Parts: sequence; structure tokens; C-alpha cells
Amino acid sequence: MLDKVYTSVASPNIALVKYWGKRNDVLILPYNSSVSMTVARAFSTKTSVLFTHSVKEDIFYLDGKRQDLNDPELSERLKVIEIMRKIAKTDAKAVIYSVNNFPTSAGLASSASGISALVYAINSALELGLDARSLSIIARQGSGSACRSLFGGFVIWHVGVKEDGSDSYAEQIANEGYWPELVDLIAIVSEGKKKVSSRAGMKQTVETSELYAQRPKIAEAHAKAVSQAILAKDFPTLAEYIMKDSNSMHAVMLDTYPPLLYLNDASREVINAITELNEKHGKPVAAYTFDAGPNAHVFTLQGFKGEVLENLKEIEGIEKIVEVSPGPGPEIVKEGFEKEIQEIVG
Ligand code: PMV
Repeated sequence: MLDKVYTSVASPNIALVKYWGKRNDVLILPYNSSVSMTVARAFSTKTSVLFTHSVKEDIFYLDGKRQDLNDPELSERLKVIEIMRKIAKTDAKAVIYSVNNFPTSAGLASSASGISALVYAINSALELGLDARSLSIIARQGSGSACRSLFGGFVIWHVGVKEDGSDSYAEQIANEGYWPELVDLIAIVSEGKKKVSSRAGMKQTVETSELYAQRPKIAEAHAKAVSQAILAKDFPTLAEYIMKDSNSMHAVMLDTYPPLLYLNDASREVINAITELNEKHGKPVAAYTFDAGPNAHVFTLQGFKGEVLENLKEIEGIEKIVEVSPGPGPEIVKEGFEKEIQEIVG
């Protein structure tokens, strides 16, 4: 409905089996399925959207600042607005006011929560009535990993085989209440700005890594194993495959020419510490995973949390440890940024 503000909240997700490489850059179709955990609302993006004829162009505020929609990376992500406007057959402009409740340096992909919150709010604002699967297909085209944030709990993004991408969607494996003992301890390490964005980095990997040809098959097997381990609440198997998949992605990153080095000394210390801890227990009690950056996500069960934290605290270079648990998918909320949007529209 035009000239009415709709507000949604969505949370980011953490990949347990990674997406790294597109077979289609425009539709954002991956080379392999990936699996993630959506995190709790302590980390979320709140987005208010208004469609109106009273402004001449789309307006987008992020964390209180107006964004330049001519910026190439941002306009790529925001093409979801145009996709949804076409479905609604409207030429009304969008006024969007979006706020993250967590710092981007927390090592959680803010684009995933941002884009999933946006498509969720637009679905209501334009009265499209699309289900979460259809919305995941739209979100995917803004930023691949965002499609997984359309669901809560544990989520798989199916690789799909169709050229139009209609079978490359996200689906829930188990909801956020399914495995409450599972925690992710995010070890934030000193970090400058990311050197190469995911978008640019994965393209370089696909183009230059000789090892990459092996990656889709390996990741597909990991996605299957991780999905089964989640359903069986089999932590040792889950942990093994989470670590193997992170290692595998960072192997093809290193094999990229020139190499992509996202890990640093503190990250490698985490790998060593978790490996030693698991050896001490004779089975995996914790699992590390890294996205395109040096921050470690260490998965463990509540029962081992204290011991894992003790080990992590000894590592030089870890600035802060943040605990996150499984969380819900997007929702529409009553209270939004009506006042801010009214001021923008005038
Ligand atoms: O969707 P993007 O462009 O933010 O890329 C995500 C890439 C990784 O975070 C490294 C892996 C993943 O599956 O989330």
C-alpha cells in the first residue's frame, strides 16, 4: 500500500558450509549448496520502507546516513528493489531507513540481515504476498548469503541446476529452538578494513584457482553431512565438517592468484588452540570457522563453553568475544522509523 511505512527486523547468518564462487554473476547462482545458522536478535537490522510518488528517486539511509545509490556495490545489492517493483507493476519510489543494532566489525555479515530485512518489508509494503522461499530467490540476487537469512535456525541454500535460478533457494533445515545448546563464540581479532570484498574475491578465485574445480563437489558433500549432523544433533560430526569446510574455502582462497589471505596470526592461533582442545578430549568439542576475514566463529555446546572461552582468552590478538545463539527469521514489527521517514519525505 502506497504512502504507508512498513517495518521489518532480520538477523544475519553464519555459514557452516561456505558459498564462495558464482556460476552466474548476474542472478547470483552459486557453484555449491551452503548451510548456515541465523543468529539471535541481539544482532539484527531494522528496516522501514515507504513507497510513494512524492519523491523523484529512491532514497536509502543506513545507520542514519544517506547512501549514494550510484555506488556500484550498493546498487548491485539494491537491485532487489527494482525486481520487486516490477513484480508489483508500480513505478512508485522507495524511501528506506535501515539501522543495524550491531557494529559491522563484529564479524557478522550485515548485508545478509540488511537485504533480508529489506525484501521482507517490501513484500508487505507492495502487498506482494510472496512466501519466504520466493523472497529468498529475490534476496539472493542482492547478495548471495542474504537468501539464507529469510529463515530462522539452520538453513540450506540449494545450489540448483536451472539457468533461471528458480531452484536456487533457501530452505530451513531446523528451527531456532531445535538445538539451543549450540553456541557460536565470535572471537574478534584486530582487523583493518577488508582488503578484497567477497564479491571481488570469489570472482578472482573462480577465474584463477586451479584447485577450485574440486571445491563444488567437496562443498556439496559437506552440505549434506552438515545438514544430517544438525538434524541428528551430532556435534562431533558437525564440528568436523564445519572445520573441514572452512579449511577448504581458505585453501582455494590461498590458491587464488594473487592469493587471498583473509586469516591472520590470531586466526591461526585459534585453529591451533581448538585443534589441541579437541585432541585433548579425543573428539571435537569445538569447531572454528572463518568467513572472508580474520574473525573466528567458534561453535561449541553450552557444556564446553567455559573451557573453550578459557582457551580463547589466552590468545594474543583477540580483542573481544561475543556469544551468539540460533535466532529467528525476519518478521514485521509495529514500531519503525515513521518519524525519520516523514522528515525525509517532507
Ligand atoms: O554473499 P556474500 O557476497 O556476502 O558472500 C559471502 C561469502 C562468505 O561469507 C565467505 C561465505 C558464506 O557462505 O556466507
